[in-house]
Amino acid sequence: MFISLLIVPTPANPVCGATVRSDSANAQAFGLFLKEFGTVQVTPLTLDFGAEISGANLADASPALAATCFDLFDRHAVCIFRDSGLDDEAHVAFSRLFGELEMAPRISAAGATPRFACPELFDAGNLDREGRIVTDERRRLINLGNQQWHTDSSFRPARSSYSMLLAHRIPDVGGETEFTDLRAAYDALPDEMKARIAGLEAEHSYWHSRQLVGYPAPTETEIAAIPGARQPLVLAHPRTGRPSLYLAAHASHIVGMDPAEGRALLRELMDFATQERFRYVHRWQVGDLVVWDNLCTMHRATPFDDSRYARDMRRTTVIDGSGLRAQAA
Ligand SMILES: [Fe+2]
Repeated sequence: MFISLLIVPTPANPVCGATVRSDSANAQAFGLFLKEFGTVQVTPLTLDFGAEISGANLADASPALAATCFDLFDRHAVCIFRDSGLDDEAHVAFSRLFGELEMAPRISAAGATPRFACPELFDAGNLDREGRIVTDERRRLINLGNQQWHTDSSFRPARSSYSMLLAHRIPDVGGETEFTDLRAAYDALPDEMKARIAGLEAEHSYWHSRQLVGYPAPTETEIAAIPGARQPLVLAHPRTGRPSLYLAAHASHIVGMDPAEGRALLRELMDFATQERFRYVHRWQVGDLVVWDNLCTMHRATPFDDSRYARDMRRTTVIDGSGLRAQAA
């Protein structure tokens, strides 16, 4: 049987402005994958940030598939699988290849019960159990919070390595997801800033980022459910060792630093890291599975008319085992 891997160079990404090249080293790395999964196309979106992958059978959740995907994630940080063909169970099974999964809250802040039978699926849409657009203001504010630059679960001691978001229904207009490359941003920092932030930690709180968009002060129950976590400002990636900024709107202050000075430093780093040159915008199609590495990227949802358009997005969240070990040390 003839098997081929196509690495497809594309013109400069209009958002990132970076050039693209084909990569024969990548092709070698995919030898095992090719034997098992047939023709796979990898289309880099920039030099090393973002890639579109087609032709992979994600429902065949095997260790060989995991090994290949780990390589893709290490290199590209954001991977787009078009026409994933995954139902909820297969989505969860694929995600489990990469580590332990977070459990979604059984009762949301809005008091609604989850829509999905799989407890690992987070509801990132705007529908209720009957498929109607929700009108609950607290839930709308939570979704609005996701329009700030963030990385998932940085407010948990068991932070996340990968998020895997699958589009079941998308708005006609808007509702894209924008990503920024925190590895490239770190590389581009002036040496003086790298020296200034080395060894610093930030406090991350889910409620901090929600309050920035008008969510009311959290209740004691809410704080007890998600109390927050300290995280390093610079993270060496546990698989690649490559240093990256680790930032999010959840970061409220720098540990041990004057609060105003810490907030100013966080603002400066956020502004630097979200420059257009580091970004990619994903325009969703139904069936897309997008996997991103939370340890070296940030993302945000772009606005859409959430009173008019339904959006059904379901996410699994893989726990970063290295983060757990670091917190325990
Ligand atoms: Fe998110």
